[in-house]
Amino acid sequence: MKLRYGDKFILSDNKGNTWLITLKQGGEFHTHYGIIDHDALINFEYGDEIRLKGGSLWILKPTIENYILKIKRKTQIMYPKDIGLLILRCGVKNGDYVLEVGTGSGALTTALAIAVQPDGKIDTYERREDFLELARKNLREYGLDKYVKFHHMDILKAKLKANKYDAVFVDIDSPWLIVEKIWRALKGGATAAFLIPTYNQLEKLLNQLDNYFIDINCIEVFYREILMRKGRIRPSFRMIGYTALLVTAKKVNRDVSTT
Ligand SMILES: C[S@@+](CC[C@H](N)C(=O)[O-])C[C@H]1O[C@@H](n2cnc3c(N)ncnc32)[C@H](O)[C@@H]1O
Repeated sequence: MKLRYGDKFILSDNKGNTWLITLKQGGEFHTHYGIIDHDALINFEYGDEIRLKGGSLWILKPTIENYILKIKRKTQIMYPKDIGLLILRCGVKNGDYVLEVGTGSGALTTALAIAVQPDGKIDTYERREDFLELARKNLREYGLDKYVKFHHMDILKAKLKANKYDAVFVDIDSPWLIVEKIWRALKGGATAAFLIPTYNQLEKLLNQLDNYFIDINCIEVFYREILMRKGRIRPSFRMIGYTALLVTAKKVNRDVSTT
């Protein structure tokens, strides 16, 4: 399929450098390999090579991981290694209603919107207007804002419908304050997921979760790249040492007034 104006693609130099580009009429892209004239790419296809003075670049299809890592950010974001596992653990799929608490820059929102489209919806809550606007812009850039309702509100003040959501994702600093609220908002048997930076926060969360949820589980995902150099294949010396703890828990239909 030939590239058209508005299409997004990844430019790769096959040396670990990538750029996410939107093809624009009259656009130019400057790299140390040379200048790319967007109009000259109109008959190119994904997989094609662009030969420049300084070397070759290749046109690739953007992935969800590319979208997340290239997002414009003003906050810490959730990383693909953590997002991927949590989405699978929560079973998020087309048609689901998902609550997200702590929109931030919208990295997780991007992945959630892709998972629930075209029939589902994300309700996302953020107390900082500037962050919410950035997230909205990021989602619009990817054509995903139609799957998201952006709420500029502190979640502590939000009134949530009972038994509405198929999954809840929480990435705020005091999640233990909203455990009962999200328990009410979740459907029975559904999963709540939390991104927790420290063990101190983990303990406070556990004290609350224990009153409302079962199957409480906490893991950390390690990610280490293997350098693929012929004759010298080995793990990279550098790795992201730590991102966060991932907690999941299942809602059971208890009468909380008696617990
Ligand atoms: C680490 S960021 C979330 C990043 C996001 N998961 C992403 O992938 O881009 C945490 C966000 O939670 C927001 N936040 C913290 N407490 C909140 C609350 N009580 N209600 C709504 N938003 C809150 C902060 O303003 C911040 O933007």
